[in-house]
Amino acid sequence: MKDIFGKALLDYQNGNYTEDIITSTSISDEDILPLPYLFRSFSEMPKLEQKALQLAKGYVLDVGCGTGSHSLYLEKKGLHVKAIDISKGAIHVAKQRGVTNAEAIDILDETETFDTILLLMNGTGIFQELIQVSKYLKHLKSLLKPNGQILIDSSDIKYMYEDEDGGFWVDTSAEYYGELDYFISYKGEKETPLKWLYLDFNTLKLACETVGLHCELIKEGEHFDYLARITDLYFTKDISI
Ligand SMILES: C[S@@+](CC[C@H](N)C(=O)[O-])C[C@H]1O[C@@H](n2cnc3c(N)ncnc32)[C@H](O)[C@@H]1O
Repeated sequence: MKDIFGKALLDYQNGNYTEDIITSTSISDEDILPLPYLFRSFSEMPKLEQKALQLAKGYVLDVGCGTGSHSLYLEKKGLHVKAIDISKGAIHVAKQRGVTNAEAIDILDETETFDTILLLMNGTGIFQELIQVSKYLKHLKSLLKPNGQILIDSSDIKYMYEDEDGGFWVDTSAEYYGELDYFISYKGEKETPLKWLYLDFNTLKLACETVGLHCELIKEGEHFDYLARITDLYFTKDISI
């Protein structure tokens, strides 16, 4: 990883904002990811993210924190937060912005336990592909304190396969339709292609059930997006053990 994303965030933070990040995927053309969006305040966040922040409690892990926008809000509210990201540049910026406890590590290397684990801005992206979902979910489960919760957002991107007649064309023999190759470039430099996973709610729920997790729909967004809360089945009230 060249950490192009981190470089762009550092430029913005240090007053060198001249260009945005360009993204594209295996099923869509080039698009702009405006750098200011990654520095958003609570009032600029989508409703699903605002809801997740309202539900956060106890010791919070912000996974893939980016510039730390969610962590900063929660810290100001008085919560104890740890922010992690694989991008060293992002962690540098998060610290510069005032996130107290920020570390450049992969979620799979995290070992502490938490009351709330946040994965926001298509949190399922970090799982990369469907085959890896149970590995990540099992690991996240191991990081939950008793009665802890995982708050995660994603989208059902089936609409991206809609044809002109309004029918859906999805190749059922191909990989899961939410598995995308993701390309990032910034100031002419290209990042190593990433795998990025969008999961529809039912597929996420099913994957949770196979590893002893309960998954509930908290809120739906305006464009096939949703916020889910995942808890350990063992601590879920309506399950008699
Ligand atoms: C779409 S960005 C979201 C950033 C931030 N949560 C926000 O909402 O602005 C996804 C972030 O996840 C980080 N990331 C990707 N894979 C990760 C992993 N395995 N462990 C920790 N962070 C990861 C990326 O470096 C990136 O900063």
